[in-house]
Amino acid sequence: MRIDIVSIFPQYLAPVQLSLVGRAQSDGLIDIEIHDLRDAATDRHRTVDDEPYGGGPGMVMTPEPWGVTLDRLLRPDSLLVVPTPSGRRFDQRTATAWADRRHLVFACGRYEGIDTRVMEYYRPRVDLAEVCIGDYVLAGGEAATLVMVEAVTRLLPGVVGNVQSIVDDSFADGDMESLLEGPVYTRPAKWRGMEVPSILLSGDHGSIARWRRDQAWQRTRQMRPDLPPRGGTSSGPVPD
Ligand code: ADE
Repeated sequence: MRIDIVSIFPQYLAPVQLSLVGRAQSDGLIDIEIHDLRDAATDRHRTVDDEPYGGGPGMVMTPEPWGVTLDRLLRPDSLLVVPTPSGRRFDQRTATAWADRRHLVFACGRYEGIDTRVMEYYRPRVDLAEVCIGDYVLAGGEAATLVMVEAVTRLLPGVVGNVQSIVDDSFADGDMESLLEGPVYTRPAKWRGMEVPSILLSGDHGSIARWRRDQAWQRTRQMRPDLPPRGGTSSGPVPD
């Protein structure tokens, strides 16, 4: 997978060189390039914003630097992603769908956003997703892009060592369906007087799996009562 990220703060995207995403790059599983939008500005001050037509607070990103940059980066098979608080919600299902794409281009807006004609121009020309990562307003699209790049790339084959850890994730569509992950424990077996639940030490894999599903169900009801109960066996607690 190829990922291009356009921003006026290229240094903000430095974390893509670290950790899981960084390793996936050095392993040749993904190829990420970061581009400075200001490289497409034409004036001495490298201006990429202007006052909003109709008045109002803040500045709007001008269309021309975006047009020049996106014309250069986009291919017929690209998905153009525009992070914005006024977009559709990005979730695990979105991440899974995007993991099948060959090329993602993230256009990180700042200020009051990008001149709407940029999205209007590209919508009929490439696949376009205007997405929001949560119901809060960030200062720009960069932090949202980091979130989405990590959510998508960890689903690519070979990026996460243990495939089961993806299947069992909160929100994953595997055995645990859309349950949140339950509690986890490691050594020591007793810490500050608290013991690991004995079932996890029992070696009885069937009982452990049932216990984990039950814990996941309880946690989901407690933390996220808004999540729809899903069909199948995880639609309720495990009977004794
Ligand atoms: N830009 C600013 N806030 C955002 C959000 N919540 N999601 C995506 N992009 C954003």
